[in-house]
Amino acid sequence: MKKNILLITVLTTFLAFTFYSNCKKKENNNSQEQSQTTNENYSFGVGPIQSKIELGPVDDALAQKGEKLFNEKCTACHKIEERYVGPAIKGVTVRRTPEWIMNMILNPMEMTQKDPQAKELLAQYLTQMTNQNVSQEDARAILEYFRKIDSK
Ligand code: HEC
Repeated sequence: MKKNILLITVLTTFLAFTFYSNCKKKENNNSQEQSQTTNENYSFGVGPIQSKIELGPVDDALAQKGEKLFNEKCTACHKIEERYVGPAIKGVTVRRTPEWIMNMILNPMEMTQKDPQAKELLAQYLTQMTNQNVSQEDARAILEYFRKIDSK
């Protein structure tokens, strides 16, 4: 009798374990599928930036240049920490892809007409972000400044 109980215990443990590891496998498969979907959904936005930009570690000098540009051209509508005329900047490099951010800076009018995420923002903020005539190089510097903010 004791032997039977032992056998049953061992069997149940074994079954439970097999079941558990199968579930784990499924979970892993799911998260793989998910990251693939995220890749498919990777959004460049609409504008001159059509290919992926390479990012290294945050370049302090470039970020400093970006900060200056941001203070000249963007602070009428944006604050770093809080919502103003437009969204708070903090966290933007987490919410959006680098290419999307640059296209938003370079091509805000078309973005809010054609890009689903930018459209949503316009519906929420009810003000059209204006084209600040930023060069591609300067937009890259501003992106670096945003990356620096989010790296802290
Ligand atoms: C006239 C006000 C105004 C100015 C000036 C302005 N923006 Fe905007 N910005 C907005 C608004 C409003 C939005 C939300 C989208 C919309 O409604 O057009 C926005 C959206 C953004 C977004 C997307 C934010 C998110 O959460 O995804 C970024 C990035 C951005 N602006 C960067 C800039 C930069 C950089 C400059 C300066 C070169 C700038 N903006 C100048 C008003 C402005």
